[in-house]
Amino acid sequence: MAQAPGKRLATEVSEAEIAVHWKEERYYHPPARFIAQANLADPAVNERFSVERFPECFREYADLLTWDRYWHTTLDTSEAPFWKWFVGGRLNACFNCVDRHLAQYGNKAAFIFVPEPEDAPHEVITYRELFTRVNEVAWVLREVAGLRAGDRVTLHMPMTPELPVTMLACARLGVIHSVVFGGFSGEACGIRAADSGSRVLVTMDGYYRNGNVLDHKAQADIAVRTAEQEGQQIDKVLIWRRFRDRPASDTPLRPGRDYVMNELVSQHAGKIVEPVSMDALAPLFLMYTSGTTGRPKGCQHGTGGYLSYVAGTSKYIQDIHPTDVYWCFADIGWITGHSYIVYGPLALAATGVLYEGVPTYPDAGRPWRIAERLGVNIFHTSPTTIRMLRKVGPEEPRKYRYRFKCMTTVGEPIEPEAWIWYHEVVGRGEAVITDTWWQTENGGFLCSTKPALDAMKPGSAGPAMPGIYPVIYDEDGREIPPGSNKAGNICIRNPWPGIMQTIWGDRDRYVRQYYAKYCKNKNSKDWRDWPYFAGDGAMQAADGYYRILGRVDDVINVAGHRLGTKELESACLTVPEVAEAAVVPVVDELKGRVPDVYVSLRPGVNPSDAIRDKVVRAIETTISKIARPKTVRIVPDMPKTRSGKIMRRVLAAISNNMETGDVTTLANPDVVEQIRTMVQGAGPVRTAAGPEDIKRFGETST
Ligand code: PRX
Repeated sequence: MAQAPGKRLATEVSEAEIAVHWKEERYYHPPARFIAQANLADPAVNERFSVERFPECFREYADLLTWDRYWHTTLDTSEAPFWKWFVGGRLNACFNCVDRHLAQYGNKAAFIFVPEPEDAPHEVITYRELFTRVNEVAWVLREVAGLRAGDRVTLHMPMTPELPVTMLACARLGVIHSVVFGGFSGEACGIRAADSGSRVLVTMDGYYRNGNVLDHKAQADIAVRTAEQEGQQIDKVLIWRRFRDRPASDTPLRPGRDYVMNELVSQHAGKIVEPVSMDALAPLFLMYTSGTTGRPKGCQHGTGGYLSYVAGTSKYIQDIHPTDVYWCFADIGWITGHSYIVYGPLALAATGVLYEGVPTYPDAGRPWRIAERLGVNIFHTSPTTIRMLRKVGPEEPRKYRYRFKCMTTVGEPIEPEAWIWYHEVVGRGEAVITDTWWQTENGGFLCSTKPALDAMKPGSAGPAMPGIYPVIYDEDGREIPPGSNKAGNICIRNPWPGIMQTIWGDRDRYVRQYYAKYCKNKNSKDWRDWPYFAGDGAMQAADGYYRILGRVDDVINVAGHRLGTKELESACLTVPEVAEAAVVPVVDELKGRVPDVYVSLRPGVNPSDAIRDKVVRAIETTISKIARPKTVRIVPDMPKTRSGKIMRRVLAAISNNMETGDVTTLANPDVVEQIRTMVQGAGPVRTAAGPEDIKRFGETST
């Protein structure tokens, strides 16, 4: 059923019914040289993946893997919407990413690690070397840490080879890894470790960030303490050393709890661990992400479906061949890194670049020097990185002799101007660009042009991927047709192998969050009754291309990092002086969106810079520096409905210099004008136009 209309004010028009206008950009066509070598150049793919061929069409992806036992049922929907792919099959993900390549590619680089300091040598890890390292770590995880198939382990690590090595060692044992982005605070890590029930935390003592070595071991101590407060005992912390010959952190080791991984590994050098043959449905990993509530959700991805989907999409969209040098400039701590640095590329025997540091260290030419030196020919990054590199070094790419055949953007909408710079200057007009739309929950790409087959259009993610059938619904569940210039909620009609299996430990939330909104029959076992609700606003042009407009829920996409406003608000409320908090997105030239924080204070407390500072610190320590707000504004009261709901949409409009709309039905309309004057100044009300996600912001707030 459609969401209860009572959620909106009666006078409001559904945002889905508001027309969106944008300038249609011209098409760009893939060059013949790219097409000639592409993995996917046969237009019959559309036929092969047509709805009549669903779900068997995905056999094509699964057949890229080596199965210990072939499956008997491609898709089992008997517990809809808990989808089961490749039922009856058995395989090991690590075997598929490492062992099976040894005979043919043993001496080929699996990873080339580039440390942040430019004078530090890069490190080549061949498939054979990767095999050795993964086995030794698997041995330590099994024999020293006592981990077995089905156990969860939290990894809080930077972008060094030890991270994928540890992930693959887990996969070898059937241990479920939960990687928490290294830039997240110890507290954020502890909360996620507790939710997953991890007894073991794997971390690294330090790493380079913008020229400094950060003390990461200190975060592990906070993580263990936080997990304990949440009721989860972490009894072993396995600490990788960033430097072979010295600790990177002064934070002392806790005897009996903390172990230095490098020492354990050298004690068990050369040990071999047989890969554990896992059920296709066995969880491979958890990846926590933010949603509408303060509690992060652990997206559970299964082994057979996920691995098939990332292998297939890496082959067709990333166009990875074993002879390419592929650089996905994302962090493995996010889903992009899991799918398109580790599992997808390694399943195809790719050579991948791992870069430790920030894009502009020591200057904006760094990525292009890396590309030149290592012969990178496939490049994959986020719009924020593109915008940043363009701003600080628009001419830098021209100075270096690299040649990209294809490039990807992911994580946020990209403005046509940034896209065109990427195409003309970074790609020298010769590289194909794929703008890939998808989410942590999805495992792999949902919309993208097929690089050799579809024309590109700046600002549009392109058509649906093979075997993916999207639909755009308005709030009442009516389909919005292509070319109508109306935005709505993008949903996917069908399940696909990369879709998450559930939210770890919360099956009800999984159904509520992703499937309840447009489900017509809750008892149905037919996938057609269970469209997947993505939580993004989108519209479809007459040519079938999708333009993604941004989140429709309480999520802010900061530089491609997904942050829940409820998590940020809870952090603000840990400051004793704060009575209420509301966090809204504000448009930022570089990062896309950044959080703006509104707080009201407890009675008798006077506003001060000290309180503002405390709020910023609370956000940084409970979540991460990436969540640092643009401004903290202390307001006399929050704009509220008569039922007491904070009108975040009104605050978002104020922060973005937009009109607030009709506020007369609020409980305290005067406060809106006070806040508006405080933020926008005494001048006239600003514009009615604005980005869709800002206009829709807070609609789903409760
Ligand atoms: O709003 C969409 C945006 O990022 C959200 C998913 O974030 P996350 O789960 O962190 O995964 C990011 C990497 C897959 C989406 O709901 N998003 C992702 N890709 C695009 C995008 N928005 C526009 N265009 C994209 N290509």
